[in-house]
Amino acid sequence: MNGFELYNKTRLVFGEGKVSRLKELILPNIKNILLVYGNGSIKVTGLYDQVMNELTSINANVVELAGIEPNPRLSTVNKGIQLCREHDIQFVLAVGGGSVIDAAKAIAAGALYSGDVWDFTIQKAVIQEALPIGTILTLAATGSEMNGGSVISNWDTKQKRTMGSKLLYPKFSIVDPTLTYTVPENQTINGIVDIMSHVFEQYFSQTMHTPIQDGFAEVILRTVIKNGEKVLQNPRDYNARANILLSGTYAMNGTLPTGVEADWATHVIEHEVSAIYDLPHGEGLAILFPNWMKHVYLERIEKFVQYAVQVWNIDPENKTDEMIALEGIQATRDYFTRIGAPSSFSEVGIDDSNFERMAEEATRFGTIGKFKTLSKEDVLSIYYKSL
Ligand code: NZQ
Ligand code: ZN
Repeated sequence: MNGFELYNKTRLVFGEGKVSRLKELILPNIKNILLVYGNGSIKVTGLYDQVMNELTSINANVVELAGIEPNPRLSTVNKGIQLCREHDIQFVLAVGGGSVIDAAKAIAAGALYSGDVWDFTIQKAVIQEALPIGTILTLAATGSEMNGGSVISNWDTKQKRTMGSKLLYPKFSIVDPTLTYTVPENQTINGIVDIMSHVFEQYFSQTMHTPIQDGFAEVILRTVIKNGEKVLQNPRDYNARANILLSGTYAMNGTLPTGVEADWATHVIEHEVSAIYDLPHGEGLAILFPNWMKHVYLERIEKFVQYAVQVWNIDPENKTDEMIALEGIQATRDYFTRIGAPSSFSEVGIDDSNFERMAEEATRFGTIGKFKTLSKEDVLSIYYKSL
């Protein structure tokens, strides 16, 4: 096991009806609030009215930024930064899925920076200060509600990039499973795939002697696999929604990578796809992850054997390690297909015309990944395997 520092200062407020905690969670000296949300789902569900009632009861001045896109755009983030400056905003409240939360984080950082907020994604500047943010999560997927990461897209240059800072951890996140009852089936599927992928990125590691981290990762995977199917059968199954939500949060709140070297290559490879094609992140991951697995499993086959046995219950009797590992990878693909996720680029209308450019961008700083370091040629090979 490697040395590590675990840091997480987000207050997680979990459970049905917890939106009523909002007025206490926002500090009393906060008056000017930027409310950030997406394309209207919170108005349809009634959450918008509930939030506004809470904010009115503390006499907050609420400025709204609606219309955050899935795969949030830099141009919209810049609108939010402008609003913060014009209205002397003291707090950014994100109500929505990962895209809304990520946009809120970028706005919070950009509002107190005199340069271009994109600078934080290209290592031209480091976040030195940020407005405080809080979140009300409506979709189980990214884990953005309890970490300091944000992913935004520059639609003009077709680039999707990440920024991160301890300063971007939400002060609080309200996570109520009933708020996810209305998530459409395709977004529920994308969320399931994203959560599993986050675990894969941290579980498939070359770091040895990590039974606690492995066990934690395996239990999250088994929980998501089981409850994913339940929630697709009954979208209003409280406990299934709750278990998926908590899995999503724990998968990305910094616990899993303690003491292990995480990989993250597949996320880099996927971000290049959604940057160009505006594909939902979960769809890209469902297509790519089993192909990444096939590309790398021989680097440490015993980890893939462990995965097959512990997560998919593959019977190892009379089988070689290779057979067991490949059965585990196939079980992953079969599960994604069973829940309705795509398995190839052609299924979502993507051809090979941008593969060269995407592979070039994915490896712009050199090789990626830690389980197996991947060159541009490796990335290209994974794109072609996914065609
Ligand atoms: O815009 P609205 O109307 O709110 O609709 C959204 C959106 O269309 C809808 N939705 C959300 N909650 C709903 C709902 N519809 C009905 N009822 C509800 N309760 O779902 C659609 C997708 O929302 P989005 O926020 O885009 O989904 P997700 O949470 O999967 O976020 C995806 C983004 O997060 C990034 C992805 O790359 C992508 O840009 N990621 C962020 C990470 C992080 N910050 O740590 C890590 C991830 O790996 C990921 O890269
Ligand atoms: Zn992800």
